[in-house]
Amino acid sequence: MIYMVRSFALTLVFALYSQSSIAEVSLEYGEYLASECTSCHLLSGKESNIPSIIDWDPESFIAVLTAYKDKELESKVMQNIATRLGADEMTSLAQYFATIKPKEDSE
Ligand code: HEC
Repeated sequence: MIYMVRSFALTLVFALYSQSSIAEVSLEYGEYLASECTSCHLLSGKESNIPSIIDWDPESFIAVLTAYKDKELESKVMQNIATRLGADEMTSLAQYFATIKPKEDSE
């Protein structure tokens, strides 16, 4: 009996895990989430007071968002935003923004 319960629990954990990683991490999801970011961060890569976040290496992108979430980096705006992002969201955003390249003729 105890074996059955345990293997059921393992199956459930595995199913939840694989569902979230397959269903949620995607470029489409990243693009969808990015609409919240691009009111401030321009997709053109132009910077004013707000830094460019396109064409980043996804690992650094996730590391920076995590640092805001953990309040290791100062910025109330970004701390609030990062606090609401889970791992799947961050990964999708990182992958999506990494595919956006700066335009040569952006002037
Ligand atoms: C209300 C405006 C605003 C929105 C919306 C916003 N950001 Fe930011 N973001 C900023 C500002 C301002 C900074 C610079 C903060 C600082 O001085 O450290 C920043 C910094 C960042 C940085 C670090 C850039 C660097 O060069 O260090 C990343 C990565 C980032 N934002 C990602 C995002 C993502 C992803 C979203 C959407 C989920 C988002 N931001 C939404 C204003 C915004």
